[in-house]
Amino acid sequence: MPVTILGIESSCDETSAAITQDNKVLSNIIANQTVHQNYGGVVPELASRAHQKNIVPVVQQAIDKANIGKKDIDAIAYTRGPGLLGSLLVGGSFAKSLSIGLNIPLIEVHHMQAHILSHFIHDGSNQKCDFPFLGVNISGGHTQIIRCNDYFDMDIIGETIDDSIGEAFDKCGKILGLSYPAGPSIDKMSKKGNHKMFTFTIPKVEKLNFSFSGLKTNFKRFVEKQEKQEPGFVQREKYNLCASLQYTISEILYQKVEKAIKITDVKDIVYGGGVSANSMIRERFKSNMKNVNHYFPRLEYTTDNAAMIAIVGYLKYKAKNFGMLNAVSDAKYKM
Ligand code: KG4
Ligand code: ZN
Repeated sequence: MPVTILGIESSCDETSAAITQDNKVLSNIIANQTVHQNYGGVVPELASRAHQKNIVPVVQQAIDKANIGKKDIDAIAYTRGPGLLGSLLVGGSFAKSLSIGLNIPLIEVHHMQAHILSHFIHDGSNQKCDFPFLGVNISGGHTQIIRCNDYFDMDIIGETIDDSIGEAFDKCGKILGLSYPAGPSIDKMSKKGNHKMFTFTIPKVEKLNFSFSGLKTNFKRFVEKQEKQEPGFVQREKYNLCASLQYTISEILYQKVEKAIKITDVKDIVYGGGVSANSMIRERFKSNMKNVNHYFPRLEYTTDNAAMIAIVGYLKYKAKNFGMLNAVSDAKYKM
């Protein structure tokens, strides 16, 4: 009999529920929260209220779309952390209550492990790579290079010391007047621009660590100065600004991934997180970094989704790694 898992994700601003059977996804419902668009970032209190409104209909839709009944579910996997505490509590409390109601096990999932392990979702097309590989987690909350020795044996070998790579997109996008999250718009607008038009600073950071806050300041100062000197600059140059900014961000990542390959001698790279949807990163890395295998998730599994939570649920179910009802949602959950 295949193992049927209900996955629940509510760590930030997406309420998502998915049903998997073994490593196949039967449904993956995501309710995006548009309420944050005008704030330039996620407002925690609004996020947790929206999760409360969404969680019941989203889970019901996931079950209906998968064409199963509640009694077919073998276990419930939920995001224990890291993330916004108020948001995590909604998904966590719901998962616990339903597991009591259905009398089935609960499985705790680490959100960042799930981004990397979304690679193991079977979608009929993608090739799977063996351990060890390097996980490159690039999202709105994190920027990490991880040596992945096994499903749950992961060592972070580099991470950001300030802003995440997603924040670099979102905060610079806000400076250009783009709504949150700005990453997808910058990606789209960059296609019409010349990435060589403007140059921004590549920070010097030790080892495999990253820094993005200096780039944001550099970008802000440059844009404000130019706008003052030639009013209408941002509007006229928006495509070139997006392309140049995106190129700089991708170059910062490129240099560190190349260094990580050199240090570890591991040549299989698995990407995860919202920023791994970025088209320039996908194209540049695949065509310029030779003799390396790059594994990017399908677009629907890049940003936050419950299918990646359910797939980890399946892997933990097989390992009989079950959670506890008294486990506390943890905003800073360690890997
Ligand atoms: O993984 P995710 O959904 O949430 C976190 O766990 O943080 O990532 C969200 C981030 C946002 O910063 C968003 O702007 C960025 O992913 N993002 C992109 C693209 N699509 C989403 N950044 C650059 N290019 C994209 N195509
Ligand atoms: Zn995420």
